Amino acid sequence: MDSASIATAAYIVASLLFILSLAGLSKHETASQGVLFGISGMTIALVATFVLIADLADTTAVVLLLIAVVIGAAIGLWRARVVEMTGMPELIALLHSFVGLAAVLVGWNGYLQHQPFTLDSLEDIHNAEVFVGVFIGAVTFTGSIVAFLKLSARIKSSPLMLPGKNYINLGALVAFVALTVWFVISPALWLLVLVTLVALALGWHLVASIGGGDMPVVVSMLNSYSGWAAAASGFLLDNDALIVTGALVGSSGAYLSYVMCQAMNRSFISVIAGGFGIEAGPADDKDYGEHREINAEDTAELLKNASSVIITPGYGMAVAQAQYPVADLVRKLRERGVEVRFGIHPVAGRLPGHMNVLLAEAKVPYDIVLEMDEINDDFKDTSVVLVIGANDTVNPAATEDPSSPIAGMPVLTVWEAHDVVIFKRSMATGYAGVQNPLFFRENSQMLFGDAKERVEDILKAL
Ligand code: TAP
Repeated sequence: MDSASIATAAYIVASLLFILSLAGLSKHETASQGVLFGISGMTIALVATFVLIADLADTTAVVLLLIAVVIGAAIGLWRARVVEMTGMPELIALLHSFVGLAAVLVGWNGYLQHQPFTLDSLEDIHNAEVFVGVFIGAVTFTGSIVAFLKLSARIKSSPLMLPGKNYINLGALVAFVALTVWFVISPALWLLVLVTLVALALGWHLVASIGGGDMPVVVSMLNSYSGWAAAASGFLLDNDALIVTGALVGSSGAYLSYVMCQAMNRSFISVIAGGFGIEAGPADDKDYGEHREINAEDTAELLKNASSVIITPGYGMAVAQAQYPVADLVRKLRERGVEVRFGIHPVAGRLPGHMNVLLAEAKVPYDIVLEMDEINDDFKDTSVVLVIGANDTVNPAATEDPSSPIAGMPVLTVWEAHDVVIFKRSMATGYAGVQNPLFFRENSQMLFGDAKERVEDILKAL
């Protein structure tokens, strides 16, 4: 068997393993198995690529490939080891930008190093592939960089509101279609330069126009774009594994974006079109009144007398790494006969399933960790709610103030409980940059400080 057939067979096996990996990752219980399938698929694909390159008998190519793999693997291992769980989304955004950049480079290479086909129609298809690959890659590249900058708080997360922003996006798309037709008819270098610049600007503008609260959808949307960019590169390089993998990432990312939009009551089209139809709300200079404070001892007292407690964790629990003392607190309260459950918002934290992972790490039983829809009706019959480092996901403005930037997003209705204790360090806003009227409600009290330290104080007092 020649090396090309071996590689094709290996790529089919790798593709099947990637599909099994996605299936595994869809459930807690099978997630680690899913990861193993993914690693195996990627190893097989890499070895097959080595076999293909080695068969060319070109030492420079083999050495270059080895150097690239060693450098990439070293950086990847190092980043994966040092990244904090809370820094995961920005790392993912940065990785998507590499996929975008790679697709741009592959596209450019496909243009500059191209041996013309004898058939005109094949030539046209090749030119269209180059153009589409470069366009999707460049949009993914700058879009992911803006997402990285927003998620890591290096730039403001509020949406950029250029006048006529929808026309800018629409204009860029129309220009792309017109330039593609032109390029297929007459593939001039300047057209490729122009589409690269248009796509870089469009990617930047699309993501800059989307506000903080909608960033989870943007990250999964960029995940999808990076998949399509990889698939486009697969066509150019005539690599089946890249086409299949790209399509898997592209379609699963698109589906995840759709599911997240539904969970957040956002229009899918509006978010992928760079906040189309979303206008900036008026500046928030409302007077919400005074907030009340509570200390750890009084919170412990409140909990001792409670019959039912719901904990709604958010990003702050991850920052403080408070899940371990929180798990101890749950154990202690349950021993005292208090009913304790968790209410998890679909976008709590910074990545899908963030809170579930933290709570599983701290060995909190799965059966008391409930989704928002499962628990939202129970707040009104609950004695105490502990809001641990959550903010946007418990903001009543989402349901009560139509001018709020997060209006319409479903939230955990914690304010319906008898008492609400909010753990955070200051009166600062959450990720979406929106003031939270919950903090000023009659039944709310603020417990200031690092969430981990405060929970430990409560444990001591108990
Ligand atoms: P956020 O609205 O981000 O609020 C977190 C709160 O935690 C902050 O108000 C902060 O207040 C507090 N905090 C931070 N460090 C703390 C510490 N050490 N101890 C105690 N409190 C601490 O959280 P959320 O309710 O989880 O909402 C998530 C937000 O992120 C949503 O807007 C969502 O759209 C967005 N987002 C989500 C995802 C996914 S997929 N989950 C991805 C990207 C973005 P202080 O600074 O005053 O302490």
